[in-house]
Amino acid sequence: MQDKPHVPRHTLIFKNALENLEALSQAANIIRAGGLVVMPTETVYGLGANAMDDAAVRSIFSAKGRPQDNPLIAHVADIADVGVLAASIPSLAAYLFSRFSPGPLTIVLQKKPEVPDSVCAGLATVAIRIPEHPLARALIRAAGVPIVAPSANISGRPSPTSFTMALADMDGRADAILDGGDCKHGLESTVIAVEGDTLRILRPGAVTSEMLREALLESDLFKACLILDATSEENHKPSSPGMKYAHYQPKAQVYIAQRIDQDSITDIFPHKKVGLIVLGDGSSQGRLEKTAPPYPDGSLALRVASRTEYARLLYRCFHLMDEAGVDVIVAQEAEQGGIGTALMNRLRKASSGRKI
Ligand code: TXA
Ligand code: MG
Repeated sequence: MQDKPHVPRHTLIFKNALENLEALSQAANIIRAGGLVVMPTETVYGLGANAMDDAAVRSIFSAKGRPQDNPLIAHVADIADVGVLAASIPSLAAYLFSRFSPGPLTIVLQKKPEVPDSVCAGLATVAIRIPEHPLARALIRAAGVPIVAPSANISGRPSPTSFTMALADMDGRADAILDGGDCKHGLESTVIAVEGDTLRILRPGAVTSEMLREALLESDLFKACLILDATSEENHKPSSPGMKYAHYQPKAQVYIAQRIDQDSITDIFPHKKVGLIVLGDGSSQGRLEKTAPPYPDGSLALRVASRTEYARLLYRCFHLMDEAGVDVIVAQEAEQGGIGTALMNRLRKASSGRKI
């Protein structure tokens, strides 16, 4: 079920917003007045609204075309503000916030009655994150309210990880867009639920299960706690409502390949414009390299240097491929474990499990 279609909005664009105090105060006013502001975070760009304003929260669903039974993450600037939203903070959750916040970790807790049902899609819980990006923190502080922010993409599409990508999806749908540069992690936050002495990973992210395990082992109080990976059960009974929908999908059809063998790919997709995402061996650093395309007809090949770079640049690659008008994207499989688990989770969803 989807909310009514969005009404076009006039979108204010604030370039280099971190150096622009006027932009920040205008954006904060928009949030307080019930409007929608696209803000950068260290994971992906988010489409923000006042978490305590039911009408503003609802307008996010129509702006994105998001199913109404998919709850939102509420962002606060400081650990001390988690209590504004959560009815109680179990000691395990408090410990994990202290270890990983600010940063890409979202914890699902019992909600306070004041949190509108629209935030939580009618659940008794609310997902809370303390972002690290200075602009997100500054906006939350200036607005003086928690900010709910789903990824700032049209529902089902890849999350924006740069200002250009956010603009492409949200121009005309948000009241303002803050440019805060490229996102450091490039994949959405790790979402966990804490139940007694068990921690369930609902969505893998840059805070990996290995990092969570290490943090638990370092604490006398929590070293016996269990970590369950709920994402392996997601096809049966989604524990995080969002995990049941199509997600992260570019216009081109995505396929996962264990190895990129250009000759066999040519045979499989004759007459198609193909985009390849090739995983390097970690020896070359940093930038996204355009390598020689397999065919002369507008196909594109991009090489990422390592799994971390792959995670950071995956959605950017999708965006570039869509801009180039490719029909098919063949993305190289990455090893599971560490950031590879989150990366492959997104790739599986983007490809709906298609493999060659
Ligand atoms: O990195 C991120 O988390 C980004 C940035 C903007 O913070 N936000 C983001 O939001 O990815 P969104 O709406 O695209 O994804 C939120 C995820 C969905 O899978 C949703 O189902 C889950 O969090 N979620 C939210 N509230 C929940 C709850 N109460 N119980 C279980 N899952 C919840
Ligand atoms: Mg999203």
